[in-house]
Amino acid sequence: MRCSVKVWVTGAKGLVGGHVLQRVADCVGSGREVDIADEAQVRLFIEKNGPFTHIFNCAAFSAVDLAESCREKALRDNVQGPHVLGKVASEKGIKLLHLSTDYVFSGCGDRLLTEEDEPSPCNYYGWTKLEGEKCLQNIYPAACIIRTSWVFGQGGKNFAVKVLQWLQEKERLDIVFDQVSRYTYAPDLVLAMVQMADGAGVYHFANSGVSNKYEFTQIIQEEALQRGFSLRCRSIEPVKSSAFAAAAQRPAFSPLDTQKIQKVLGAAPRHWKDALIDYLDGYAS
Ligand SMILES: NC(=O)c1ccc[n+]([C@@H]2O[C@H](COP(=O)([O-])OP(=O)(O)OC[C@H]3O[C@@H](n4cnc5c(N)ncnc54)[C@H](OP(=O)(O)O)[C@@H]3O)[C@@H](O)[C@H]2O)c1
Repeated sequence: MRCSVKVWVTGAKGLVGGHVLQRVADCVGSGREVDIADEAQVRLFIEKNGPFTHIFNCAAFSAVDLAESCREKALRDNVQGPHVLGKVASEKGIKLLHLSTDYVFSGCGDRLLTEEDEPSPCNYYGWTKLEGEKCLQNIYPAACIIRTSWVFGQGGKNFAVKVLQWLQEKERLDIVFDQVSRYTYAPDLVLAMVQMADGAGVYHFANSGVSNKYEFTQIIQEEALQRGFSLRCRSIEPVKSSAFAAAAQRPAFSPLDTQKIQKVLGAAPRHWKDALIDYLDGYAS
């Protein structure tokens, strides 16, 4: 990122946006009160708080199951939102970094997914995220899109937070083992976003190591016990996704290939287990 920057982060009350706001020095955040799908509101915000060199778009309708029934809202946030930001940013010469997801892929394959692989979402959330990417690329080809997966970190709603709560409250957990992807630690993602802020095109970012929710839960249990957390849970059972009635189907196998971004960053992302240790150390302190 250039020396003199001013970043506007949207979705700043969400998981990733919250981490951006904490970690990026000259940064202004907005939540729902500035609707990214409303061009007049976007222009007014920039006028009042800018000039900005960068926009990091972390705003999205991210509730995967709810998106199936709240289609209009998901469409507005995930497609109209990036379109409006792209339109205004390109006109004003502001660099735009937008986040997308491994859920743009069907998850039917058996190898890591590159930026060249054909997306084919298996749920409505994934479809809106893919449409959002296309709209943005169309209106602002120089925008940077980072697809990520299974984000965890302090604050916000995420699986790691839920697991820690369940481990403390429940004696037995049934956890899905037949969905495979790559975990991403929010602070590591933010660091990559900062390094990619002047980039263009589509990139994949996630921590190293392919995993599933069952393994993730087991490792959290082990590490939390070592750190003296008081846990009620005595058994974690692997179950199939079909054991739970979810409104949206999930990709079965959607780990992202991160080789393209590694060439720019100069290093492979660290393993998710190392990131998880940082997360738990932060949680305990
Ligand atoms: N978390 C993951 O595991 C994951 C995985 C892959 C990709 N991603 C992508 O990463 C990005 C950030 O995800 P996240 O987990 O940080 O999401 P999040 O915690 O749900 O935060 C998104 C925030 O954006 C806000 N928002 C939604 N529509 C808006 C609009 N039209 N105008 C202004 N604000 C709006 C939401 O407000 P409300 O709460 O009021 O809706 C929420 O505070 C998203 O693009 C997501 O698709 C996330």
